[in-house]
Amino acid sequence: MKDNFYITTPIYYPSAKPHMGHAYSSIVADFFARLKRIQGHKVFFLTGTDEHGQKIQRAAEKFNKDPLKFCDEISKTFRNLSSLLNLSNDDFIRTTEKRHASAVTNLWNILEKKEEIYLSKYSGWYSVSDEAFYNEDEIEDLEGKKISKSSGSPVEWVEEESYFFKLSKWQEPLLKFYSENPKFILPESRKNEVISFVKSGLKDLSVSRKSFSWGIKVPSNKDHVIYVWLDALTNYLSAINYPKETEKLYKDFWPANIHIIGKDILRFHAVYWPAFLLAADIKPPQRVYGHGWILSGDEKMSKSKGNILDPIEIIDIYGLDALRYYLLKEVSFGNDGNISKEKLESCINSDLANNYGNLCQRVILFCEKNLGLKIPEYNFTKEDLKILNDFKENIENIEKQINDQNINYYVDYVVNQLFKANKYFNDQAPWTKKDDSLRLNTIVFVSLELIRKISILLYPIIPNTSLKVLNIFSMEEKDIKFDTISNNEYLKDKKEIIKLGILFEKIKK
Ligand code: MSP
Repeated sequence: MKDNFYITTPIYYPSAKPHMGHAYSSIVADFFARLKRIQGHKVFFLTGTDEHGQKIQRAAEKFNKDPLKFCDEISKTFRNLSSLLNLSNDDFIRTTEKRHASAVTNLWNILEKKEEIYLSKYSGWYSVSDEAFYNEDEIEDLEGKKISKSSGSPVEWVEEESYFFKLSKWQEPLLKFYSENPKFILPESRKNEVISFVKSGLKDLSVSRKSFSWGIKVPSNKDHVIYVWLDALTNYLSAINYPKETEKLYKDFWPANIHIIGKDILRFHAVYWPAFLLAADIKPPQRVYGHGWILSGDEKMSKSKGNILDPIEIIDIYGLDALRYYLLKEVSFGNDGNISKEKLESCINSDLANNYGNLCQRVILFCEKNLGLKIPEYNFTKEDLKILNDFKENIENIEKQINDQNINYYVDYVVNQLFKANKYFNDQAPWTKKDDSLRLNTIVFVSLELIRKISILLYPIIPNTSLKVLNIFSMEEKDIKFDTISNNEYLKDKKEIIKLGILFEKIKK
């Protein structure tokens, strides 16, 4: 039996409609979830919405709405986006659900009982937009206004009674934890940022607010609501039935294998979250991966800059798989990535229509015209085996790279195989072998096997299209198994293939 695999996206603030950054975190997580499933792991893939706190309360007030009603509406748009993106999530959690509140209060009670939390007074800067407290050295002046240096969002002065978590006490244990778990934070460059932040000294963290009410109440003092990040992070536990630690989901899936997040929320996930968990005697997750920003023309996408690429619009024009493929291939995972419609169109034309689409069309059409769509007999030459065996020879390495979240290695491997397969079909030119039927048959068989293997590798990236292609071999989703890419004769037992329509229309420029 392979290990279970628990993967999460960040839970999104339903303060405005979803944008490309949200779509990106989700698509990346879905890629890994699908890949792990076809590798034979039992997977739990979680996404959802983060609905408490001052940011949401203010957004609801702006629209004159009750915060829960407001969240109901916008959370729905995130849920819809999940299906539009064809996410294979096993659950969608909302932090306004009952099951979540009981997990949060349980965790709070444990921390309080262990004297990890004490009552005092907070005075300092707070950004509602980031839901984050900032030190004096983390803010700057911009046109007379105070903003956070890291996020650029406005900060306001807060002075109120607050509970504190003894974060300072966890500085050394955290550093020890990072050194014992060298791949806890990836990519490496971000790990170094986090470690130097922790080494520079941790102050106790304010974990409750008193000046507004939209949140989960502190169980022992109803004047306070629990800090939204302590509330939100706990979603990763509540979705798998914590605090019922004896229940199957919790036993099967905690600690999570990986939280996929954006780099802007790394501190919450890589410092506060493991500290809360260590303090409560709960194992921290195994990995936190902080991906980069999706930029539009060198700038972060933002409403005020008017450079937003709306995922829903893009999917409407170009189709979902084009967007998934483009984001996974063109953004160097872990770094910021520039996206544009022009680059998306070139990617559709060169990779999806010309490379993949063309290979499938040409081979299948040839098989139809010459073999009546029958899967032929074969007798492999050395050259055939060389191209077929490449998958078997690389499977271990691909798995290793993917376990380090090296998406770009994976996609590059697939693209390379596509080039090789197209070249093979061209060079072998089966149309010149009409008087050597065994050779003609073998070339078709090999080409079909290559299409099958490549389509399996493409499944986590473009699941709909991959399935469409695998259907021609009468394969369904349940038949997609990663290790069958090592098999060169999988199609031997199939009798014939089914015709295939055009996969990707070329975009006229
Ligand atoms: N609610 C918190 C997360 C709580 S997780 C316990 C939050 N929500 S968010 O809606 O603001 O952002 C969610 C994710 O979207 C973050 O990982 C963030 O990095 C990502 N993105 C938002 N804009 C982005 C880009 N322009 N590019 C890439 N991802 C960015 O933070």
